[in-house]
Order: sequence, then C-alpha cells, then structure tokens
Amino acid sequence: MADGEQGRLMTLWYLARAAGVVTMVMFTLSAVLGMVMPGVRRPERRFWLQYVHRSAAVTGLVLLATHVVAVIADSYVDISPTVLVWPFGSGYRPFAMVIGVLALYSLVLASLVGAARGRLAVSQSFTKHWRKLHIAASVGWLLSIGHALLAGTDRSTPWMLGITLACLGAVATAGAYRLNNATPKTTRAWRTQ
Ligand code: HEM
Repeated sequence: MADGEQGRLMTLWYLARAAGVVTMVMFTLSAVLGMVMPGVRRPERRFWLQYVHRSAAVTGLVLLATHVVAVIADSYVDISPTVLVWPFGSGYRPFAMVIGVLALYSLVLASLVGAARGRLAVSQSFTKHWRKLHIAASVGWLLSIGHALLAGTDRSTPWMLGITLACLGAVATAGAYRLNNATPKTTRAWRTQ
C-alpha cells in the first residue's frame, strides 16, 4: 500500500478514536448539568444550564455519528454496518461492541424523548412518564463508559484512564450534589414544564 493511502486510512482510524473520546466527554458534561439543574434556584441560571445541557447532548450525538461512521468506513479493523443491528456478530471485540451499540440506542432514545418534551409537555401522561424515559440517558452514559473501558486501543494508557475516571468522578459528584439538593416532587413538577 502506498504511503499516502496508508496515511489516509490511519487518519480515519485516529478520527474514529478521537471522536469516541470527545463523545464520551460531551455526554458526561450533559449528564452532569442535567443532574445539578434541579438544585439551581435562579431561573436565568437554569436557562443557561439547560441550554448547555442540550447543546452538549446534540454535540455528543453528532460526534457519536462521526465515531460510528469512521470505525465502519475505516479498514484498519473490519467492522460491518450490520454491527448496529447485530453487534453480537462483530469480529472485533464483540462484547465491547454490544455495549457500545446499546449505549447508542439508549442515548438516541433519550435524545428523541428530550426533543419531544417541549411539544408534548401539554400531555399529562407524557409529562408523567418523561422522567422514567429520560433514565435511558443515564443508562446510555454508563454503557458508554463501559464501552470505552473495554473497546479502545488507548483504554489502558494513563491519559485515557484519567479521562474515563474524571468522567466517572464528575457524574458521581453531580449525583451527590443532586441527592443533597433534592427538591420535593410537587415543587419539581411545575419547574420542569
Ligand atoms: C455512546 C456511544 C459510544 C461512545 C461514547 C463511544 C466511545 C468510545 C471511546 C471513548 C473509545 C476508545 C477510543 C480510544 O481508545 O482511543 C471507543 C472505541 C471504539 N468504539 Fe465506540 N463509542 C460509542 C459507541 C460505539 C458504537 C455504536 C460502535 C460500533 C460501531 C463503536 C465502535 C468502537 C470501536 C470499534 C472502538 C475501538 C477503537 C480502538 O480499538 O481503539 N462505538 N468508543
């Protein structure tokens, strides 16, 4: 293979991996902001937190699409598009692929539900089930951390372990803040519509 061709292939491979790392960071940022938001009293601060929470999730989705398209398009490892419907058949780190695809499903579901929220807020039953459905985002985030720990070439390098542990630490800290600043359910309902 010519040097230029080899370089192009490696660029795609590096792009795939870099996009995977930034995807994980973006979903972590979105998760952290989503967890601290209910404890914030000032409306303008909540507005900005909500704005950045959503923007981080949308950026995460765009980067996730980049990650997936790049790992499939790249020929450094053989990953077929069918991995998205049947990840168990992947010849490359199948368990990690199953977790990654489940993370993708959960995060896409959570994003669709989040996007529909404003429009369907008038429906009482949707509002009632919204929180339960949004749990898909937390499940997806946790699965994406598991995927990163199992799938990546860089998974045992100090910098990658540092980023993954920082993501876990940030969400654990936000979770503790959320528990300490829990608002009674009755107050929460009107604040989130
Ligand atoms: C929310 C979902 C996902 C996130 C956050 C994510 C993130 C990551 C991260 C951080 C890595 C490690 C990169 C490195 O070590 O340099 C990685 C590796 C990988 N991911 Fe994903 N990923 C997700 C979903 C998927 C899906 C659905 C696929 C299947 C097409 C996939 C395929 C891969 C592959 C093949 C690798 C291995 C790259 C390597 O060996 O270095 N990922 N992913």
